[in-house]
Amino acid sequence: MNTNNDEKMVILGGVKLSGEVRISGAKNSAVAILVASILVGDKCVIENVPHVSDIVDLIEIINGLGGRAEFVGEDVIEVDCSELKSHVATGERVRRIRASSYLMGALLGRLKRASVDLPGGCNFGVRPIDQHIKGFEALGAYVDIEYGTVNITADSLRGNTVYMDVVSVGATIDVMLAAVLADGLTVIDSAAKEPHVVDVANFLNSMGADIRGAGTDVIRIRGVESLHGGTFSVIPDQIEAGTFMIAAAATGGDVTVTNIIPTHMESLTAKLEEMGVGIEEFDEAIRVYVDKPKLRRCNVKTQPYPGFPTDLQPQMLALLTAANGTSIMKENVWENRFEYVPQLNRMGASINVEGTDVAVVEGGSKLIGAPVCATDLRAGAALVIAALMADGVTEIYNLKYIDRGYEKLVEKLRGLGAQVTRRCVNPMPEVLRAVNE
Ligand code: UD1
Repeated sequence: MNTNNDEKMVILGGVKLSGEVRISGAKNSAVAILVASILVGDKCVIENVPHVSDIVDLIEIINGLGGRAEFVGEDVIEVDCSELKSHVATGERVRRIRASSYLMGALLGRLKRASVDLPGGCNFGVRPIDQHIKGFEALGAYVDIEYGTVNITADSLRGNTVYMDVVSVGATIDVMLAAVLADGLTVIDSAAKEPHVVDVANFLNSMGADIRGAGTDVIRIRGVESLHGGTFSVIPDQIEAGTFMIAAAATGGDVTVTNIIPTHMESLTAKLEEMGVGIEEFDEAIRVYVDKPKLRRCNVKTQPYPGFPTDLQPQMLALLTAANGTSIMKENVWENRFEYVPQLNRMGASINVEGTDVAVVEGGSKLIGAPVCATDLRAGAALVIAALMADGVTEIYNLKYIDRGYEKLVEKLRGLGAQVTRRCVNPMPEVLRAVNE
């Protein structure tokens, strides 16, 4: 994997994607499970881990804490945190990924203290951690934020009921991590139900934890003395799968997305069918094909799972530029997730952002290749889809974002017939520099 931001992706559009693509393990699940292994005083083998830069960063962070984590195969990580001693996770790597917030819960659970730099991640406006803190405090911890570092200490952790004021994937997982080794019963009410919340619970249970109800609104965690080592395989990536499904529809192609859990894709398949896209479901695969001259418009609202995922919103918006008529996208999870829209409009899309949470797409405009700049991970995926649809050549800059979450994207697209490559940037066009800063 190359995480070099001195590269650009060059795509010649107009090819209908066709064939089969195998989906990697879920990045958002793998990052949480890797951090959860801090709670295990023994060796864990984690399979089906995508080789993406967020994972590489976390491996370095865990090693810096005194644990031992490394890729021992293409998609297998061995992690042994039995000797882990440090509760201090600070520095650039910690600050640039959102999943470092899980270090708070895991280090608190394991060492009863944690000092973690405020987590970063993609910029969708304010990304608060008040619900994480509320949960830690309910378990008896004392939390203090000083100069951008969250310091958490506890003499002991005792189970309690935590009612989440917003449905938060991060806070649900973080409180679960802090509660696994606490005394007594913790109840998380109004919990997030995303597949990766369930996957983290399954991982911890397979190592000896006692967590029930993951995937519902109420999760009950009965504290256990300790966790043991073992082997666990990460679920397939719902968002990577969705990205390829949308790309198939956007290019009028015929693609079978394999190694997935079709029920995780239901909100997307429903929307694609509404647009007139053909869907055929198998046990662990979905075929997406287009046999209509024109896709129908549709309105989409992002919601916590099982609603339409916010992490597929940018890709879906790119697809809606090809539909017949006006579509409305309402973003309900993040306060500011349309920053990338000017990049699509540079390619000839006609998208108007109203306020901060609604985008109105006048469909039917033919996209034309242009130099564009990824403003975050999934926005980068949307630009790739737009580039595949466009006439001519598109150059996508700022690949560091795309590399955070898509494994072997160029290779996988080429396997479906796309004309795509990575090349050195020299230099980035003047018009994009402001976006990159
Ligand atoms: C995770 C995903 C991210 C996805 C998001 C929503 C990972 C590593 N990242 O992010 O890709 O877009 O879920 O599906 O899994 N909130 C609060 N207080 C908090 C925490 C969150 O108000 O303490 C709010 C946020 O501002 C946001 C909403 O809750 O509006 C959802 O955020 P959350 O589910 O926590 O997102 P992440 O876990 O950061």
